[in-house]
Amino acid sequence: MDLFDAAGASAGGASSGGGPAVRAAGLRAEIARHDHAYYVLDAPTIPDAEYDRLFRELQVLEAAHPELRTADSPTQRVGGKPLAQFAAVRHRVPMLSIGTETDTEASGAFAFDARVRRALGLKDGEPEVEYAAELKFDGLAISLRYEHGVLVEAATRGDGETGEDVTGNVRTLKSIPLRLRGEAPSVLEIRGEIYMRRDDFDRLNARHAEAGEKTFVNPRNAAAGSIRQLDPAIAARRPLSFFAYGLGATEGWILPPTHFGVLDAIAALGLPVCEHRAVVAGAQGLAAFHARIAALRDALPFDIDGVVYKVNSLALQSELGFVTREPRWAVAHKYPAQEAITLLRDIEVQVGRTGALTPVARLEPVFVGGVTVTNATLHNQDEIDRKDVRIGDWVIVRRAGDVIPEVVAPVVERRGGDLPRFVLLEKFPVCPVCGSHVVRGEDEAVARCTGGLFCPAQRKQALLHFAGRRAMDIEGLGEKLVDQLVDAAIVKTPVDLYRLGVLALANLERMGEKSAHNLLAAIEKSRSTTLARFIFALGIRNVGEATARDLARHFGNLDALMAADADALQQVPDVGPVVAQSIAAFFGEPHNREVIEQLRAAGVRWAEGEPAGAANGLFAGKTFVLTGTLPTLTRDEAKALIEAQGGKVVGSVSKKTHYVVAGADAGSKLSRAQELGVPVVDEAGLRVLLSETDTNA
Ligand code: IVH
Repeated sequence: MDLFDAAGASAGGASSGGGPAVRAAGLRAEIARHDHAYYVLDAPTIPDAEYDRLFRELQVLEAAHPELRTADSPTQRVGGKPLAQFAAVRHRVPMLSIGTETDTEASGAFAFDARVRRALGLKDGEPEVEYAAELKFDGLAISLRYEHGVLVEAATRGDGETGEDVTGNVRTLKSIPLRLRGEAPSVLEIRGEIYMRRDDFDRLNARHAEAGEKTFVNPRNAAAGSIRQLDPAIAARRPLSFFAYGLGATEGWILPPTHFGVLDAIAALGLPVCEHRAVVAGAQGLAAFHARIAALRDALPFDIDGVVYKVNSLALQSELGFVTREPRWAVAHKYPAQEAITLLRDIEVQVGRTGALTPVARLEPVFVGGVTVTNATLHNQDEIDRKDVRIGDWVIVRRAGDVIPEVVAPVVERRGGDLPRFVLLEKFPVCPVCGSHVVRGEDEAVARCTGGLFCPAQRKQALLHFAGRRAMDIEGLGEKLVDQLVDAAIVKTPVDLYRLGVLALANLERMGEKSAHNLLAAIEKSRSTTLARFIFALGIRNVGEATARDLARHFGNLDALMAADADALQQVPDVGPVVAQSIAAFFGEPHNREVIEQLRAAGVRWAEGEPAGAANGLFAGKTFVLTGTLPTLTRDEAKALIEAQGGKVVGSVSKKTHYVVAGADAGSKLSRAQELGVPVVDEAGLRVLLSETDTNA
């Protein structure tokens, strides 16, 4: 902060100090320093607003003095017109690839070490070879050329001899410095990988999906596609990252003696070098690194498809040399692929705890992410449409770590003939688990089973909700217990709770006789409740606690509510068409009505006809007098609201009156209240009192 303030303070004196050229150079250096801290070290040094101010100052300065606009100025990251095509770049040092150890077990590390030792003529018992071990990033290779510290060219690998000039696009990556830090050699070519972080990829795809644009299959494709954009302005909007892993041509640079040292030097020049690298000894060291990174793989914010081992000593590297364009001193040691192609045999659905029907792909078994996958999620109908996945397609399946396998995309080129589009509601008009109707709300991504309490797949969640503190308030009926009760088929619907005996309970895991008795007592207690709690407990979609209270108040008893059609339901304050539809659909299912009748038969009772909350409302025992015209509430509505909280509305003001609610043109009752010192509130005041009641309820 202080540092920045000092720089900021000198801003005003720019022209009086060293002049605009000096100030511009100072700003460039300072902004580059903050970029490095933010994008390379991931340790921001100044607030965004301060950074923006520096940036704008430089822009203004350059606008006034265009001759100060240098190629390495941070204002010049996005520039230039869209290209017609990329120019060819001949690599001074070819960009070679490395051999792959396809064996994903530790033996791959031993095989590589054995080859290196043999090539170096090392016998058993002679010292271990020292290796630099690093990650194998899953992006695309790029070569950056710095001349006298300034980035002058960036090229793709191409065929290894000739690549494409993508300088304009690469300049938009904030983590790639336009000028190297410190003493720079006359020529330095840095090789590395451009990649996209997974979170950036997800955000980019979400953005594209929303805009109806094409989405990317995986981060590698997204990175490659972005770097090959002919318009740098588009590339600039793609969140790309970079890690350096080696060198191309160098001039005027004394190379460190080891690869690890080279990477340290590259990092010191201001380029991003991945922190997950190590110097290890021998095959054991390599295998340990392979295992350590395997455990870390899923937690990394970007994709890797393996690790890379390099003989650490540059002298030994040149001794080992190359065989058919691959270095003998390096190898990639893979991990099980996280993506594979297989046949989509069928699409079925899984019913979730909230009734959501998730389409699930039934796949020809395929080995991916280290396991054999036979099912993968397709999320919902919109996703199926967006990806245009059809039964009979060859599809790319992805499984990363513990994440549920998903179908990424179809391989459209392999689609044989005309395959029909998949429409979930056509194939599953009723729930495959319980046979209830399946509906999909207009603005909803998911289709749902309307089976509610009846559908076994929804039972556990429904039971937990039913027993919840704000619903029937059955203490001690938690997730573990509900799981056991449902899995053992002891409880199917909430009715079964009221039929439980000590014996059935006491035999459950971690449930002694004492806890069984306690639970039964809690269940017993829940038998007498309020209408609002009961309605809420039913778990009707879109009916939360407040709506349940409104419904109870409005209809007064359950039969009236069950008989109400969508129009009648919409008479209730805050109940719109969507909520009305959920309620009507719920009571339209015969199974739900059956469960309700059984609950009544089992002795579950609520105070019908009496507004909910009255008994323990905060207005219990309080008297109110209404006078004048309230701005939005009719007198009846105000009365109902007060009574719903247990308050009493009377006709005349006395010393015993707790509140007078006064509206426009209030007459003698208001003056009487003032005489007696009775608190007077307006409609807003009444609402405040009511909301206090709500939160305390
Ligand atoms: S070294 C002469 N190191 O893997 C050695 N390559 O076939 C040159 N890659 O597409 C490559 N991470 O872009 C090296 N840490 C790493 C790497 C890496 C990813 C890519 C590289 C190329 C392929 C090598």
